[in-house]
Amino acid sequence: MSLPFDATELAADFADKSPQDILKLAFEHFGDELWLSFSGAEDVVLVDMAWKLNKNVKVFSLDTGRLHPETYRFIDQVREHYGISIDLLSPDATALEPLVKAKGLFSFYKDGHGECCGIRKTAPLRRKLATVKAWATGQRHDQSPSTRSQVAVVELDAAFSTAQNTLFKFNPLAQMSSEAIWAYIRMLELPYNSLHERGFVSIGCEPCTRPVLPNQHEREGRWWWEEATQKECGLHAGNLIAKG
Ligand code: ADX
Ligand code: SF4
Repeated sequence: MSLPFDATELAADFADKSPQDILKLAFEHFGDELWLSFSGAEDVVLVDMAWKLNKNVKVFSLDTGRLHPETYRFIDQVREHYGISIDLLSPDATALEPLVKAKGLFSFYKDGHGECCGIRKTAPLRRKLATVKAWATGQRHDQSPSTRSQVAVVELDAAFSTAQNTLFKFNPLAQMSSEAIWAYIRMLELPYNSLHERGFVSIGCEPCTRPVLPNQHEREGRWWWEEATQKECGLHAGNLIAKG
């Protein structure tokens, strides 16, 4: 199968380009077939930039069933603000119900987040990505020194490509700092998740996210009972593969 481009070469060429240039590149190659993965947090910047380039931009969120009420409100606010539809992907009940029956609703505090994230996030994402040629995420280098510092602006997605489907992953915000993200949100008066007003920086599921103290790294607010090097939930498993 011939690929539309060499991702490693393009990643080097575009490493220092603006997020908008990277998004333009993605739209040039994939048009309306590019899907944005929106978590309901400060990655609203990605939605904003993409929407300004393409009003038909496609967006999905993984509805784990465990997001904060504020995040559900925010996802809906973004849907209305931009006049876009956001596909909400739910976990497979036949996989989820036996887990909750056997281990309860908080098993991740005892035996790690892998199993729950596998069912609530990774499996629905895998199902979605099997039908998609390219996706874009809001991952950034400064979000996690141990797992994201090497994230390329475009990559061949080793974790979710299949024999039938070669998948490309764009990370247009990779080089943006948290400071730059927030300057963008405030300057352009974008809507934001109200949890950010209460000390939350990185936002995931409610039981696995907490606010951070001044000068604590944002990642310390996620799965705080686990090792920093393991703090990827399967969505970005490629980051761990790449590190070996
Ligand atoms: S996570 O893997 O640790 O949960 P993080 O919260 O840092 O990820 O977000 C990084 C990017 O992953 C987001 O910008 C988004 O593209 C994607 N992502 C994370 N959570 C979700 C979600 N619930 N739905 C859709 N995309 C998500
Ligand atoms: Fe489950 Fe926590 Fe992962 Fe959400 S972040 S899917 S609640 S383990």
